[in-house]
Amino acid sequence: MAGKILLAGGAGYIGSHTYLALVAAGFEVIIFDNFVNSHPSVTERLAEINGAPVTCVTGDVRDSAALDRLFAQHDIAAVVHFAALKSVADSVKDPLGYLDNNLGGLVTLLAAMDRAGCRNLVFSSSATVYGIPDETPTPETAEHRAMNPYGRSKIMCEEVLEELAAADAGWAFGILRYFNPAGAHPSGLIGEDPKDVPNNLMPFVAKVAIGEIAQIKVFGNDYPTPDGTGVRDYIHVEDLARGHLLSLQSLLSTGQGHLVNLGTGKGQSVLDVIDAYSAACGQDLPFVFEARRPGDVPIYCAQTDLAKSVLGFETEKSLADMCESSWHWVTSQAHLTRP
Ligand code: NAD
Ligand code: UD1
Repeated sequence: MAGKILLAGGAGYIGSHTYLALVAAGFEVIIFDNFVNSHPSVTERLAEINGAPVTCVTGDVRDSAALDRLFAQHDIAAVVHFAALKSVADSVKDPLGYLDNNLGGLVTLLAAMDRAGCRNLVFSSSATVYGIPDETPTPETAEHRAMNPYGRSKIMCEEVLEELAAADAGWAFGILRYFNPAGAHPSGLIGEDPKDVPNNLMPFVAKVAIGEIAQIKVFGNDYPTPDGTGVRDYIHVEDLARGHLLSLQSLLSTGQGHLVNLGTGKGQSVLDVIDAYSAACGQDLPFVFEARRPGDVPIYCAQTDLAKSVLGFETEKSLADMCESSWHWVTSQAHLTRP
């Protein structure tokens, strides 16, 4: 296959699963990561799963010189850009830091790609750009209404990519708006590994299941949803990884960009998640109803037609698969030991 694929932020949760999907499809892949939210031992685990060494370069996407060295050393056909900070709460406390890392990182990376003549990039965007949408399932044409600096950094990044594509048809961008990634690799060797108490539902439920946290707090039971709790479109991280493979293959074969939602199109409530996780771990997980979390959306669900027609993307895995693989990951004693 001509040219390697660079995964910026490839040691993280979604990047590490995408690494495996790309290698399985025959791509030669390089990980570039500063490990601000991942552990270097991820690369050893990827090597163990694949039975082959992993090429990983430690560095920051805001470091032009490091990127120039990387592009000089490797013939890179395309980049998948995962490298970003993703905590909504932290972004409210440190908007400038989020702009520097997420927007500054993208601009620095694009400039290095431009110098190297590499013009294909898949970008990790988020359903968070929709804020509180008028329509669910939400189409890609819905208004941008992100409600926090993290979400707005994703909108700004998308706008940078749109500007560049409009100015020079040589660029091709795959903008992927993920809904709620969940689950882990079946090996139990890689998965989501939050540094602190998790903000997101699935890793929080996992901590309760292994007994590290006493009970799940369900934020709101008075939403206009079938059981009153928040509804989300949870997508298995392995399905999501396959979405990146299809996006890359489309960019490289057509030279045309695309902007698509990646979700299942099916909404699941907080209570659905608790039930599915309870079944996966074989115990009824304790929960308590609490007040709504400020800024929360009642329902988030992807319209999936465009990803299907443009990329041929359809999800294969269920909520039960997400919970079972997460349970296997958290109980496998294979946790990455953070320094
Ligand atoms: P993650 O934190 O596990 O992975 C991100 C990786 O990027 C980490 O390994 C981190 O060390 C690295 N990184 C961050 N800043 C960097 C920098 N300046 N230079 C080099 N490396 C850097 O997060 P994830 O869940 O795998 O998310 C990947 C991408 O998907 C992010 O852009 C995130 O905003 C986006 N996204 C995630 C979710 C989600 O729920 N996980 C949802 C929608 C969008
Ligand atoms: C959150 C972020 C969003 C980000 C996404 C993925 C907010 C307001 N939104 O979205 O910007 O893109 O994560 O990283 O932070 N819930 C509980 N108890 C918990 C945790 C969550 O009941 O302990 C509920 C929430 O109210 C929601 C659902 O579970 O209804 C999912 O929450 P979460 O996993 O945090 O994802 P999002 O709210 O979709």
